[in-house]
Order: sequence, then structure tokens, then C-alpha cells
Amino acid sequence: MKKITQSRIWRSFFRHGWPDNPLDRSLVMTTNLFLHLHPVKINRNSLKATYTFGLGVISAIVLGLLVLTGTLLMFYYVPSVERAYGNIVTLQTVVPFGQLLRNMHRWGAHLMVLVVVLHMARVFYTGAYKPPREFNWGVGVFLLLLTLAASFTGYLLPWDQLAFWAITVGTSVAGYAPGIGGQARSYLLGGPEVGQAALTRFYALHVMAIPLAMGLLTALHLWRVRKDGGLAANELNELPDTEE
Ligand code: HEM
Repeated sequence: MKKITQSRIWRSFFRHGWPDNPLDRSLVMTTNLFLHLHPVKINRNSLKATYTFGLGVISAIVLGLLVLTGTLLMFYYVPSVERAYGNIVTLQTVVPFGQLLRNMHRWGAHLMVLVVVLHMARVFYTGAYKPPREFNWGVGVFLLLLTLAASFTGYLLPWDQLAFWAITVGTSVAGYAPGIGGQARSYLLGGPEVGQAALTRFYALHVMAIPLAMGLLTALHLWRVRKDGGLAANELNELPDTEE
């Protein structure tokens, strides 16, 4: 193995030797784009599965799945009031695996809301929102709002009766917000009622602005987890030590 790990080909991919010693093991982590998200060393408390239930990681995975299925949906969907509904019907009835694709995106969106809320509840329950993690809690609140905004804007896109009336009701409710309500409603709809301008705006927000903001904030969120010293469980000493 030593010979291979010293070859030029191996070295052009990996900047470390075979990970059978502490130095090479830490180099594996720090020199890999994906693995460097993890610290080289962590406290065994934070490895307890029932501490996080993996909810933050599941949120990130579902977000990735939504981006992937959403991109594929864009191959078939045109945000036009004349064509949108027909596009969805064609997708479900003609396109191979079209119904599966649409359902993965729709159910994924429901799952995302559920998992993010559970993750937030877990963070609250374990007191991980306290200093120094209060900034990251704030970032999380924005992520929750963006998750809800993505669901809301996506709801209009199929342009069926459910979509049309849900957004008509939803934006009417927004119109009653004190002070800014009327303005917010007309900015969102681009006119007095739900029509082409609203569909164009919701589409732009749904496929571009919101996912971009979520991607950037998720990166910031994960970076902050590292900078705040890893999970708050690292600071817990009262968990039973399972070491022999
Ligand atoms: C798109 C949504 C979100 C994603 C992808 C995400 C991702 C993550 C991940 C991967 C972790 C580390 C592991 C874990 O706790 O499972 C984490 C930790 C954390 N998250 Fe989130 N999160 C999201 C939303 C939120 C929300 C809504 C809040 C609260 C308002 C929040 C607050 C926190 C805090 C304070 C930590 C540190 C927890 C600790 O030290 O124990 N996050 N997040």
C-alpha cells in the first residue's frame, strides 16, 4: 500500500498517505472538500444518535433532493398561465417517471417543513440556542422562513384550482398585515389579483432567489456549527461515559 500511496497518480488526487496513523487520518479530513466539514476530533457525547436524531443533516439532504428534483421538473415546466397546468398534466401522464418526479418534489417539500421544525425543536429542547450559538439560531430562523416561503411560492406553480385559490387566500391574508400589508401583497402579486405577473414572480422566487439564499445560509449555518465549537453536546459532561 505504501508504494501506491507514494505514486504520482495517488499524490495527484490525495495529499496524504494511507490513513493508518494520526497524522494521515487528520489529513484525510482536512484535505477533502466534503470531509473537511467535520472536525478532525469530536467529543463522543455529540455522537449519540438520540442527541440530534440527525435532523439537521436530514434537512440538508432533503434540501439537496429538492434542488435535484426541482431542476428536473424545470425541464418540463413553463411558467405561463396558458401552459403551466398542461405541462403538469403531461408530466404526470406522458413523461416516464414524471409522476414519481413530481411526487418526490411535493412530498419532499412537506417532509422538509416537518424535519426543519423538528430540528428546531431539538435545538430548543437541548438548549443549543444559548450563547455562543444564538447567532446560528438566528440563521436557523431565516432558514425556517425560507423553507416556508419555498413551499408557499411552489404551491402556485401547478396553476390548478387548489393552487390558484390557496395563493388568492394566502396573499389576501398577507394584505391585512398592519402598515405594509397592502404593499407586500401587490409586490408579491405584481398586480391587484393572482395572474401571469404573480406566476412569474413566484416562479423566479421559487427556482432562483429562495434556493440561492437557502444554499448560502445553509453553508453559513454549517460553518457556524464548526466555529461555535461543534455541537453543544461537546460541552455536556453529565452524559454517561461509555468508554470501557
Ligand atoms: C434548511 C434548514 C436547516 C438545515 C439544513 C440545518 C442544518 C443543521 C445541521 C446539519 C446541524 C448540525 C447537526 C444537527 O444538529 O443535526 C445544525 C445545527 C444547528 N441548527 Fe440547524 N439547520 C436548519 C434549520 C435550523 C433552524 C430552523 C434552527 C433554529 C431556529 C437551527 C438552529 C441550529 C443550531 C442552534 C444548531 C447547533 C446545534 C448544537 O450545537 O447542538 N437550524 N443545523
